[in-house]
Amino acid sequence: MSIRLPFFNKKQKKTEEIKPDNIPEHIAIIMDGNGRWASRKGLPRIAGHKEGMDVVQRIVRAAVNYKVKVLTLYAFSTENWKRPKPEVDFLMKLPKEFLHIYLPELMENNVKIETIGEFSSLPEHTRKAINYAKEKTKYNDGLLLNFALNYGSRYEIIQAMKQIVSDVDEGKLKKESIDEDLLSNYLYTKELQDPDLLIRTSGEQRLSNFLLWQLAYSEFWFTDTLWPDFNEEIFKQAICDYQNRKRRYGGI
Ligand code: IPE
Ligand code: IPE
Ligand code: MG
Repeated sequence: MSIRLPFFNKKQKKTEEIKPDNIPEHIAIIMDGNGRWASRKGLPRIAGHKEGMDVVQRIVRAAVNYKVKVLTLYAFSTENWKRPKPEVDFLMKLPKEFLHIYLPELMENNVKIETIGEFSSLPEHTRKAINYAKEKTKYNDGLLLNFALNYGSRYEIIQAMKQIVSDVDEGKLKKESIDEDLLSNYLYTKELQDPDLLIRTSGEQRLSNFLLWQLAYSEFWFTDTLWPDFNEEIFKQAICDYQNRKRRYGGI
């Protein structure tokens, strides 16, 4: 006689529900894998960036629904200028295209647009489109959608150091008053709380010069999924896993 054991399919994960009282307030995402997604389909890399743009809006909608306070999306790093010019040019046009399509919906959803990074060295057409959206959404007090554009964490920290040194030289600041809060206040992120959760797609497990200071105590969550294939379900899974973690901040 054989005993029948219940059959569990590993893939059929029990769908967990998100606890509304423990939503990560600030989620940062390294949206990676656009190029590989396109290559695997025999398409040019830019097709992956285009597809990734629509995923941004889907995740923004989900973040609005979960009442996330800040969503910081790594869109272009200070190192990404190394890429072929046509790809860089395409990436610099995406903010305008994204906002052209989605700004009305972002307004409806009370989303406020901001950026971090070296804004002044972006092409004028990129700055213009973003400035328009920033102006238009500045009184919105729902989700803060923060694009890291021409962002590099080491550059950010060096700029902060230079400013601190010059403020000390000019007598505006005492060396003794330099502490963690003060340095934080010299960063692009001065208005923001540190991320609670960092997500990176595409299987890479590195920071690539993203928010090195701000991620000191964030929870990290990685997925092999390429950014254009990322979706609400996977986003939900990341939040569920976050909710099952115990943040200790060095305590017990
Ligand atoms: C992320 O996708 C988007 C940017 C860095 C702008 P990638 O373009 O890095 O895609 P992969 O990593 O080459 O697949
Ligand atoms: C990080 O991805 C930057 C963005 C997602 C915008 P990269 O693709 O540039 O990172 P590396 O080169 O693999 O570390
Ligand atoms: Mg990449």
